[in-house]
Amino acid sequence: MAVVRFPDEGRTVTGEAAVRETLGRVGIDYERWQPSHPVPAGAPAEAVLAAYAAEINRLKAAGGYVTADVIDVSPETPNLDAMLAKFRKEHWHDEDEVRFIVKGHGLFHIAPKGSDVVSIEMEAGDLIRVPRGTLHWFNLCGDKTVRAIRLFQDVSGWAPHYTDSGVDAGYQPVCFGVQYIPADI
Ligand SMILES: [Fe+2]
Repeated sequence: MAVVRFPDEGRTVTGEAAVRETLGRVGIDYERWQPSHPVPAGAPAEAVLAAYAAEINRLKAAGGYVTADVIDVSPETPNLDAMLAKFRKEHWHDEDEVRFIVKGHGLFHIAPKGSDVVSIEMEAGDLIRVPRGTLHWFNLCGDKTVRAIRLFQDVSGWAPHYTDSGVDAGYQPVCFGVQYIPADI
């Protein structure tokens, strides 16, 4: 389940309904997806896409997405640091950024117009839709692993436009995960 934080306020939001409502207020759609049948996290991309075909097709119809793929990132990914350097600077796209986490973790920061920066720590089963034009950046978590389904309205629209604001440098890319919860509560 995703964990939402407002670092400037020291506020954390957990729980599916609260996360959905909180993100909805800043224009981010949040969903939890279940596969139509069990599929191993390491299954071929085609098998992963097939297991989530109903959800993918629903979103395609609603959002005008024309393609879906599966991206794999792990510590063994060639040129991982160079790839991550492109993601972790504040940017926006000319199309929506839609990500469903199949395996691993990811940390999105969103900088909504007129609202405090919000971080979204995502794990398997979480989907977010970041609308086109929304300022954001992305980091991996400590496992340096993420497998995600991506939906595209136009593959050429994915190119990032950087703000060079430096805002991203003010936020620690820290994922706490379940270990952040003290063991005695
Ligand atoms: Fe992006």
